[in-house]
Amino acid sequence: MGEIVRLQKYIAMCGVASRRNAETLIDEGKVCVNGQKVSEQGIKVEIGADTVTVDGKTVKPISKQYYIMLNKPVGYVSTVKDQFERPTVIDLLGGEIPARLFPVGRLDYDTEGLLLLTNDGDFAYKITHPKHKVDKTYIAVLKGGISIKGLAQLRRGVRLDDGFVTSPAEIEMLNTDAGHTTVKITIHEGKNRQVRRMFEAVGSKVVELQRVAIGRTELGNLPLGRWRYLTSHEISFLKNM
Ligand code: URA
Repeated sequence: MGEIVRLQKYIAMCGVASRRNAETLIDEGKVCVNGQKVSEQGIKVEIGADTVTVDGKTVKPISKQYYIMLNKPVGYVSTVKDQFERPTVIDLLGGEIPARLFPVGRLDYDTEGLLLLTNDGDFAYKITHPKHKVDKTYIAVLKGGISIKGLAQLRRGVRLDDGFVTSPAEIEMLNTDAGHTTVKITIHEGKNRQVRRMFEAVGSKVVELQRVAIGRTELGNLPLGRWRYLTSHEISFLKNM
C-alpha cells in the first residue's frame, strides 16, 4: 500500500503548486480524484493507487530517492519478489517507504549483514559495477582452521570453480576457537557466492557469513532485521567513490 496523504500535499509533491495554492485549485474545481471532481478540502489520496488530475492533466509525485541500509538476517532473499514465495528483504521494510526500492547487489539466502536498498538506479549501478571497485568487507566463520598457505593464496588471488581468478583480497585473522576460525575479508568483486567459493578454493568451508561494510559505510550496531536511512554523508561518500 502506498502512503496516504492529504490531497493538497499530494499536489504539492507533484510540483504543481504549493499546498496553499493547491487548496485554491481545489476550491476552483480544477482537481479530480479518480475522475470525480473534488469540491471539499481535506480529502486524502493514496500515492500510487489514486489518480489525480489538475485541469484535466494527470499529475504524479516527483519521486524521491531513498537510500537505506538493512541488516539482513539469514532466511531472506535479496530480491523484490521470490518465485518460491520465500520472505524477501523488502518484507523487512514493513511498507514504510512510499517508493519501490530494490536491493543494491545481493546477499545469499544464508548470508546476513549489510544490504543497501534504493530506488536510484545510478547509485546501484555505481556500487555493484566491478569497474568501480567498491570494497565489501565480510566476517566469515570457517569450519576448522585455515593454513598459512591458504591465506597467502587468497591474498594473491585464487581460481574459482568456474575459472574466474579473483583479485587480491585483504584478510585478517580475528579468532580461532573450538573448531572454528573467524576471519575478516575484503574484496571488491561480486561474483555469485564469491566469498564462500574463494574459501572453498583453498580447502576451507564457510559456515557463517556476514557483510559488515561497503566502502566506508559500516553496519555498526544496527540490529538484525532492522533498517535505517543512510546519512547524507554516507550517500555522498558512496556516490563519489
Ligand atoms: N559472498 C558470498 O559467498 N555470499 C554472499 O552473500 C556475498 C558474498
